[in-house]
Amino acid sequence: MPDPSQALPDTPLAPAFQDLTPFNTLGLAARAAAFVSLRAPSELDALSTLAGRYPGLLVLGGGSNLVLPPQVDNLVAHVALAGVRLLEARPDAWIIEAGAGENWHGFVSACVASGWDGLENLALIPGTVGAAPVQNIGAYGVELADRFLGLTAWNVAQRRLVDMDAAACRYAYRDSVFKHEAPGTWIIVSVRFALPRPWRAVLDYPDLQRQAGLAGGTPTARAIFDAVCDIRRAKLPDPAVIGNAGSFFKNPLVDAATRDALAARYPGLVSYPQPDGRYKLAAGWLIDQCGWKGRHLGPAGVHDRQALVLVNRGGATGADILALAAAIQRDVADRYQVKLEPEPVVWRDAPPRG
Ligand code: EPU
Repeated sequence: MPDPSQALPDTPLAPAFQDLTPFNTLGLAARAAAFVSLRAPSELDALSTLAGRYPGLLVLGGGSNLVLPPQVDNLVAHVALAGVRLLEARPDAWIIEAGAGENWHGFVSACVASGWDGLENLALIPGTVGAAPVQNIGAYGVELADRFLGLTAWNVAQRRLVDMDAAACRYAYRDSVFKHEAPGTWIIVSVRFALPRPWRAVLDYPDLQRQAGLAGGTPTARAIFDAVCDIRRAKLPDPAVIGNAGSFFKNPLVDAATRDALAARYPGLVSYPQPDGRYKLAAGWLIDQCGWKGRHLGPAGVHDRQALVLVNRGGATGADILALAAAIQRDVADRYQVKLEPEPVVWRDAPPRG
């Protein structure tokens, strides 16, 4: 595979009209007035020049955590920077670098196939390598932050590449510095991972322990990779079949007193203690208990096997999805006095400059 930092021949970035329906996993019908695909780091400077002509910049990865309006008039930059390489075989870790445009699952598969183990719990998550740090993707006991070494990002306004370590990225549950900056401030170019050696299986997650073949013996990374794929396929809808953006809400964090009061009233409450003394509540359980699982409002629905996932039943707009999300938030707040926070980015064009 090509080296992501290797400059490819210059190609002019010519914005063009683009149907965005295949570029968002919710499958919302959306169009971009000005769309460019970024294929080489050498195009970054031209992209900054172009971005200056628009009031806003939507940086698009796999579109798997995004709610789009029907028409985007700001500049859309699709990040297609490719390449995966082993930077260093350190005694304590494999150091791997991947281009931001690499498909996340393809990257995880390639790592496991090469014996660079440690990302297998994060198999089958939709999206790209460059989007993974933005929301600090996590599943089955591992977060991106646990395997992260650093990243290189382009500051669009300042026209410079910046290296950031984990502290600079300010990772938290489904959160990073990139979620707190104005959209279009940064373009993540490449991400570096440190996969600890010797490898150690992470089997804390009950579903994973239960999975056949993993109990007892010493599982391999490949066996965990396969088990995670099986669990996800059983619970989560495939965006290629039914449009969705994964978990639509974060699992809310509450203090111990709130959790204890809720648990006393609702004995089935699912909650997980956090290192800081707070509790994470299972939002899927709260939504399910409110009777939303499998229900719909017009073309926007709640998945019938995982209430945390909203689906496009066909022809839904971003407004349909947001109306369903708001109805769910109202019900959960009325019953449990808990505020559910959406996980995806809801894109609203920056208004044209006066
Ligand atoms: N539950 C229900 N009803 C539902 C869904 C869940 O009662 O409809 C209960 C389950 O029985 C379980 C608990 O809620 O006791 C938690 O459910 P699950 O194990 O499926 O995980 P989750 O908390 O719903 C989180 C992540 C997922 C990740 C899984 C596995 C968030 C917002 N979601 O889901 O991430 O795959 O854990 O680690 O943290 C994503 O972010 O898109 C995503 C899929």
